[in-house]
Amino acid sequence: MDSKVILITGASSGIGKSTSVLLLKKGHTVYSAARRTEKMEDLKREGAHIIKLDVTSEESASAAIRQILDEQGHIDVLVNNAGFGQYGAIENVSTDDAQKQFDVNVFGLARLCRLVLPEMRKQKSGRIINVGSMAGHFCEPHGGWYHSSKHAVAGLSGCLRQEVRKFGIKVIQIEPGEIRSEWSGIAMQNLCESSAGTVYSKGAEKQSRLYAFGEKHLATGPEAVAKKIAAAATCRRPRLVYRTGFGCVGLSLASALLPRRWFDAIFIRLFT
Ligand SMILES: NC(=O)c1ccc[n+]([C@@H]2O[C@H](COP(=O)([O-])OP(=O)(O)OC[C@H]3O[C@@H](n4cnc5c(N)ncnc54)[C@H](OP(=O)(O)O)[C@@H]3O)[C@@H](O)[C@H]2O)c1
Repeated sequence: MDSKVILITGASSGIGKSTSVLLLKKGHTVYSAARRTEKMEDLKREGAHIIKLDVTSEESASAAIRQILDEQGHIDVLVNNAGFGQYGAIENVSTDDAQKQFDVNVFGLARLCRLVLPEMRKQKSGRIINVGSMAGHFCEPHGGWYHSSKHAVAGLSGCLRQEVRKFGIKVIQIEPGEIRSEWSGIAMQNLCESSAGTVYSKGAEKQSRLYAFGEKHLATGPEAVAKKIAAAATCRRPRLVYRTGFGCVGLSLASALLPRRWFDAIFIRLFT
């Protein structure tokens, strides 16, 4: 097997951790990165190289790429997976918090692309795998900053894909549906905190109850996304977009096919 050097961001839990485990099992050289390195001791035991990384810091991100290049001499695959949900009504989320959302989900992802591209261009090969979301295809109340960040990731991935193909670099977008991880708990905690005592609190409570139900009973395990990322990282002709996880096909289709008023009516009824 052709062993690859792979950097995975957001590897301390959920999709990033599962992807690290799968790619290690397949014999690749895996650099697993996140802020909470103490949560990656298990990956270290499996053979992962652990990197402390905050994707919002230029210094931290360039040190991570420098370390990989110093140790391996090249980098084959970047999996831009780090992300979180800054949920809250647009009226309630401060500009600072909105900026933090984009700093991680969009500018952090773009920063790592910029850092690996010169090396991948030199190699005339490489893959950048961006974890977007089904949230990049539709809208829901209280998800303004998260959804717009994932719409932005879809746009960036598409533009980048066209720009770098002539250098032998492939850009692939992953669009998970509802996946079991820490994501939902963090997003709903942000929603409840920002909505407490405001006119949005009733809707926020309904939404967090439904999300908790979804996380417990409907969400797909992160291993399903890990399999798609592994295929995107290693198969000869990867697809441009991979989708998996509860709701990803149904919701994207419904948003494309239903009249917008009908689609809005469902979410307004559910979450406001
Ligand atoms: N779960 C879902 O239903 C779902 C659906 C669609 C898309 N997604 C996307 O999938 C990706 C992975 O999410 P997940 O479901 O696996 O959630 P998760 O379990 O909460 O994992 C998120 C990861 O991102 C990392 N992260 C957050 N902020 C960071 C920062 N500033 N610098 C570096 N790492 C940071 C976290 O690590 P540290 O806190 O240790 O840094 C953690 O490892 C995200 O982009 C998410 O938006 C998730």
